Amino acid sequence: PVSAALAGKVIAISAGGTREPLDPVRFLGNRSSGRQGIALAKAALAAGASVRFIAAHMDLPAPAGVELSTASTAEQLHVAVTRAARGADVLIMSAAVADFRPAEYLGAKIKKSDDRADPVITLVRNPDILATLIAERAAEGPAGGLAPLVVGFAAETGDAESSVLEYGAAKLARKGCEMLVVNEVGENLTFGTDENTVTILFADGTEAVHAAGSKDQVAASVIDAVAVALETDAG
Ligand code: C5P
Repeated sequence: PVSAALAGKVIAISAGGTREPLDPVRFLGNRSSGRQGIALAKAALAAGASVRFIAAHMDLPAPAGVELSTASTAEQLHVAVTRAARGADVLIMSAAVADFRPAEYLGAKIKKSDDRADPVITLVRNPDILATLIAERAAEGPAGGLAPLVVGFAAETGDAESSVLEYGAAKLARKGCEMLVVNEVGENLTFGTDENTVTILFADGTEAVHAAGSKDQVAASVIDAVAVALETDAG
């Protein structure tokens, strides 16, 4: 049975959105609520796994029963995720990581004053935590203990050139993870709501799995797919 594959396994799950500080009172953030990550943690616990939950900023508290660590910025999340992924069987990277951060942090609040020009904020790129971790895993080999099964999330919109799934397949290849959960986003879709429609893509050629419904239902489908992947590897 699928559920048995997760008993005693260690699953690291990142959730929520990072905040990149600009000055002591302001940050650049995103609309991630943490709901999908919380649902994943609950599903993993229900399947008998132990969960290392790495929470960025969320609208809701972390679920009971997890081993909790917290992070605010992408750089803090990078450290916490890498630590949690070491010795874990699975890493699910559902956090929304800011792609950019302000190039400099101003120690005092930026003030508005009539004699000053409009402020300009320069952004620099954040590390891609997922891609970096997979490169490290490849460099270290299995002895390094970084999670052998890594699941990424991707929020995509289609356009005239390519569909959501084409972009997803390209991202799966680019990031190098074993599974990618692709969801279609747009105005009022997904962020902060309790509904989700996703397609789970597999790097090993396993046929894609579609899942729709509440974030709890989507989480159950993702955790099932993880269990199947672990069983396939074991057998
Ligand atoms: O490239 P994109 O942001 O669409 O990729 C999304 C996936 O990559 C998610 O799993 C997210 O947690 C992860 N990510 C990351 N580090 C970043 C940006 C995204 O690990 N800087």
